[in-house]
Formats: sequence, structure tokens, C-alpha cells
Amino acid sequence: MRILTVVGARPQFIKACMLSKAIKSNSEIEEVIVHTGQHYDDNMSTVFFEQLNLPKADYYLGVGSGSHGKQTANMLVELEHIMISINPDVVLVYGDTNSTLAGSLAASKLHIPVAHVESGLRSFNKKMPEEINRLVTDHLSDWLFCPSQAAIENLRREGIVNGVHLTGDIMYDAVLYFKPYALKQSTIIENLSLVREKYYLATVHRAENTDQPERLKSILEALQQLKKDVVFPLHPRTKRKINEFKFMDLISSPHIKIVEPLNYFDMLTIASQANLVLTDSGGLQKEAYMLQVPCITLRDETEWVETVQSGWNQLAGADTDKIVDQVKTIQTPKASPLLFGDGKTAQKINDILLKSR
Ligand code: UD1
Repeated sequence: MRILTVVGARPQFIKACMLSKAIKSNSEIEEVIVHTGQHYDDNMSTVFFEQLNLPKADYYLGVGSGSHGKQTANMLVELEHIMISINPDVVLVYGDTNSTLAGSLAASKLHIPVAHVESGLRSFNKKMPEEINRLVTDHLSDWLFCPSQAAIENLRREGIVNGVHLTGDIMYDAVLYFKPYALKQSTIIENLSLVREKYYLATVHRAENTDQPERLKSILEALQQLKKDVVFPLHPRTKRKINEFKFMDLISSPHIKIVEPLNYFDMLTIASQANLVLTDSGGLQKEAYMLQVPCITLRDETEWVETVQSGWNQLAGADTDKIVDQVKTIQTPKASPLLFGDGKTAQKINDILLKSR
């Protein structure tokens, strides 16, 4: 069986790494990896391949940044060529990025079955590019690997019931596997002179927050008002927008520690030792839960509804007062049920794909 895996953005390297390990241990499957080049800076891409020991991509498309249409179209053209020449039995895509959409669209037009990992998530907000990407991908997929029961329900409401599997969340596999290495190897806490459990971790990268000056300002004003150290790794677009909107003053307080985007080990270490995470990232909301750290989500809705229902995550949107109030009042819940499976998601997906040959 030949699988063609399409990745392109940071979280996809982490997810693909776990499934690639499972696939590698199985001589019946050959995996060909395509990196679209959606993320291309060393600290957004290369560092993940090196740290996670992810096999070097067989094809690197180098599409880079651009408008959604241009970026996706460039990926489609290249992926179609590769799919025709490789003739895979399955195209494997992850999550909800433009690389996911391009992979599933190119494959389904060539009648190649599509497997979607992290299927069934919905924010019900079609202004998010990610929502369009996952809606289309799910409707084109033959295998839909869902991280949660809520994801299965979302698909059922859209009439998708065939090929749907509850596998758990592959990011949980990665957290369990890599956390011990991360805590041993990372020196980020010392490098930034942080005191364990006495700082907050904040990340902002979603277009809905970075590209609307009033939302970005409001979030930065909240960070400014917080009374503990705030580690704030800056996504390249967020950095660009802060400069463009002249918001540098808002992040110049000594308690706000601006750092470059973090590698996976530093991120796991910083997140696991934080008092609280503030983020608009889907992945980090889940990682906070998996690492037993409360989270405030800087969005108006979330796909990860179970983290909210369990009391570990609260939605604050981009409202300064709400964010500051929630930071003051959020509690660490006593119970933390296994919301995202048992950490054996990669093996389950591998077995399902093999069985279906
Ligand atoms: C993308 C995904 C998002 C995912 C995130 C993970 C889409 C629509 N969005 O968001 O779902 O949560 O990855 O991190 O696919 N840039 C650089 N260097 C890089 C990469 C990006 O400078 O290596 C800058 C460029 O200005 C680019 C901007 O960041 O235009 C946004 O990058 P893009 O890949 O479009 O979206 P992300 O916000 O990273």
C-alpha cells in the first residue's frame, strides 16, 4: 500500500511524525511525504523535522505565502503532478490548513481515496479559512479519523456517517511521547529566567485576531494589564501586523517576554510549566488540556468544545476586560477526563488503513 502524505504547517509536522512512526514499523505500507512549503521559515518548519526526527520530505513544493487562492492553486498544480506520477492508494491529510484543502481536492479529482486526520471539527464560523478547509475536506474524504465524539456528531449532522472512525487525537500521542524528552532537553525556562507556574504563555496568530487592528489592540492591552510574566512567542504575521499597526508600545512592558516562534520541545516545556495559557491556537488549547494547564481562548468560539465543558478552557474573545477578569478568576478543575483518546491514535489509524486494503 502506498500512502502519500501532504503536510505544510507547523502542527501538521507534529501530527504526521506520530503516524509516520507507526507506518514505518509496518513493511506493508510505503509512505511518500510532500511538504507544500506553506510554512518555510526555519523556526516554523526545519526545526520540527529535525527535532521530531521526521523523515525528510520526498517532495518540497516551496509554495510559500500568498493569498488563499494563489497559495492553494499553486499547491494544487504541483500536487496533481506528483499524485499522477506516484499513483498512491491513499492521500493522507491533516487538520484544516490550505495544504489540507489542496491535498484532498487534488486527490479526489484524480479519484484517489482521501484519509483525513482530525476530521469533524467545526467552529460554525465560515469567516475562518480553516472552517472552509475542513468542511470541504471532510466531504471529500473516504476515511474520517475523528479525535472526539463531538466531531462524530458534527459529521453525522452533515450526513457523513460512512468511513467515520473515533480514533482519539494524534496530538495526544505526541504529547505523551515527547513530553519527557522535552522536559529533559529544553532549557527555555532558565533561558528566559522564568519561575515555574508563575508566568503565563500567550500566542496569537489567527487572521481574525491579527488582521483586525481593534481585536489585536484589545488582546495586547489585556496582556499589558496582566500581573505576571507573559511569554509571547510571535508568529511572523503577528509581528508584521504589530509593526504595521504601530502597536509596539503595547508589548514593550518588561513583564511581556517576546520570543521567536518556539520549537516543539520548548513549547511543550513552557506550556506544561505555565500557570495559564492564553491562545487563539486550536492545537495549544488542546495541549494545555493534555498538560493539565487551564486555558483562556482568545476567540469567540472553539472547535474543542469538550475542553470548555470540562471547565479547563474559557472563551474570552478579544475583549480586554473579559480576558483580564477571566485570568483573575479561572480555577483549575479537579477532574480531567480522557477527552482525546488513549494516546494510541496513530496505531489505530494505521491499522484501519491497512485493514481496508
Ligand atoms: C496556518 C493555518 C492554520 C494553522 C496554522 C498553524 C491556513 C489558512 N491556516 O496559519 O490553520 O493553525 O498554520 O501554525 O492554512 N509566514 C512567515 N513564515 C512562515 C509561514 C508564514 O513569515 O514560515 C507569515 C506570512 O506572512 C504568511 C503568514 O505568516 O502570509 C500566515 O501564514 P499562513 O500559513 O497563511 O497561515 P498561518 O497563520 O500560519
